[in-house]
Amino acid sequence: MTQPRVLVTRRWPEAVEAAIADRFDAIFNESDRPLSNDDFKLAFKEVDAILPTVTDHIGASLFEAADTRTRILANYGVGFNHIDVDAAKGRGMVVTNTPDVLSECTADLAMTLMLMAARRVSEGEREVRDGEWSGWRPTHLLGTKISGKTLGLVGFGRIGREVARRAHHGFGMTVKVFNRSPVDPAVLRAFGAEQVASLEELLPQCDFVSLHCQGGADNRHLIDARRLNQMKPTAYLINTARGEVVDEKALAQALWFETIAGAGLDVYDGEPSVHPDLRACDNAVLLPHLGSATFETREAMGFRVIENLQDFFAGRTPRDRVI
Ligand code: DGY
Repeated sequence: MTQPRVLVTRRWPEAVEAAIADRFDAIFNESDRPLSNDDFKLAFKEVDAILPTVTDHIGASLFEAADTRTRILANYGVGFNHIDVDAAKGRGMVVTNTPDVLSECTADLAMTLMLMAARRVSEGEREVRDGEWSGWRPTHLLGTKISGKTLGLVGFGRIGREVARRAHHGFGMTVKVFNRSPVDPAVLRAFGAEQVASLEELLPQCDFVSLHCQGGADNRHLIDARRLNQMKPTAYLINTARGEVVDEKALAQALWFETIAGAGLDVYDGEPSVHPDLRACDNAVLLPHLGSATFETREAMGFRVIENLQDFFAGRTPRDRVI
């Protein structure tokens, strides 16, 4: 039997690429550079499945060609707002993602950012590397304790819950949650969490606010100048979700004028470019989208894509079908 033809748009961990090569007629992007719109147009005609990542912008125009062969977009990642899912649905295509397997590592990174921002880790490291450290002193680079503080979570899906577990059980933090749909009280109890009705209610109460909602048009600039103003001047904003959720210009202003204390960011609107005003803020910790970047998780994400593809081509509904 002929194997389905699949396109892997970026380099994946070796073990996963080997498993894909075994099971499919696979094309790998050896250069690991993001593919162009023209590359995708060609791929839509020639392969049965495209395996994209967050760096591939698969917009509506790509779905317009009459002679499309592609039947499934098996995304490597949990977020899929880089794919126009309505256009995919219109063409009867299936889209899958890779939830669960990256929740722990992304939550670990949110905690890392919280600690880095509150304890001024990047500032300290820059000082040591630049040869500027003059030695220990009682008032040097004082930060903020995170234990026992109040953490606000915007979005309480799998990743938000893993953050709550770490924050509450590890650091004794009080957890408040803003989530569009009601959360099962038993789940909230497990993390000592309380659900609040609105962002307006959440933001003024929190020492840390961590974003775990989806990206995309609905949540674009959910955190804007007005909402940043509702945060305490001593509070920190953490974003491991999607860049567009935050108005970065407004955030840079809040950081520069210290109307909030700091931020820890892993994602950016228009990444890999980062707003220059943010780069100028010493009280921002800036990481290059590392949320799921561990050997274990990146392999698990790849094997989850393979599972989804195998189900699809065997005529079963893939477990991570999003449309
Ligand atoms: C995700 O899975 O959405 C990560 O941000 C990487 O794409």
